[in-house]
Amino acid sequence: MKPSQFFAKVDPTPGVPGVNEMIKPPSFPKLTMMAPDGLYISSPGYKVGEQVNAMAAYQNTIVPPAGKQQANGRTLKMGQEVFKRAQCISCHAGDAFTNNRVVPSTVIGTEPSRAAALKKTGNMFGPASMYAPDTPVPVPPGAKAVAVPTGHLDPEQIKLAFAHGDSPGGYKVKGLIGLLWTAPYLHDGGVAVGPDAAKQIGIPGTLLQGVAPDPANSLRALVDKQLRQK
Ligand code: HEC
Repeated sequence: MKPSQFFAKVDPTPGVPGVNEMIKPPSFPKLTMMAPDGLYISSPGYKVGEQVNAMAAYQNTIVPPAGKQQANGRTLKMGQEVFKRAQCISCHAGDAFTNNRVVPSTVIGTEPSRAAALKKTGNMFGPASMYAPDTPVPVPPGAKAVAVPTGHLDPEQIKLAFAHGDSPGGYKVKGLIGLLWTAPYLHDGGVAVGPDAAKQIGIPGTLLQGVAPDPANSLRALVDKQLRQK
């Protein structure tokens, strides 16, 4: 794949409404867990949140294609055992290989700045609320707002997710399905190694040179300290 293919230009399709149309949620101008930038995506002619929910439902049906190469059964079994023995499974657990927890950036040790990106939302944060799901867009005056339940959530996880207060913020444990297709890795796509692991290192050595990151070499860089250091 050439780098240009990673950055597809999206032109509006005639007859299909754009998904960059916003409404003010009832919490406006406060920021909330539901609308951390204060606004919410919904187009005229749909119900509030209908497009976003439909897109989420669609994405929940996506499964990655099988790879062309398959390691033999013995290798796969060994890999599974190492994965358990190395405690990867303590975070990458369950069917999608994530326990869905946010891990402090200070613990996970990856590049920390993105984890704190939402810190200032703490100055304007309010309780989450949204219009009832049968509310049309444009939202009519007097539309009913409903509170979004958040009382069951762990307050420490919320602080971490938004880096509120003195929290450094964190990163959510990534699911590991389809890694063959998703190099480069980590939240910033910073872990990339090309087919030639001696020379093609990092984004400067791969994507910026028109070289697609190699999934096996890039994954190796996540566990091989020397390769990662480079
Ligand atoms: C303490 C919890 C935790 C443990 C233990 C852990 N991980 Fe992770 N893993 C994470 C988090 C959090 C991220 C996302 C970090 C980021 O993007 O900066 C991640 C990211 C990854 C990614 C990158 C996924 C992608 O799509 O970019 C891979 C691969 C991975 N972990 C594999 C492993 C393996 C293999 C082990 C065991 C050797 C392991 N992890 C142990 C929490 C953990």
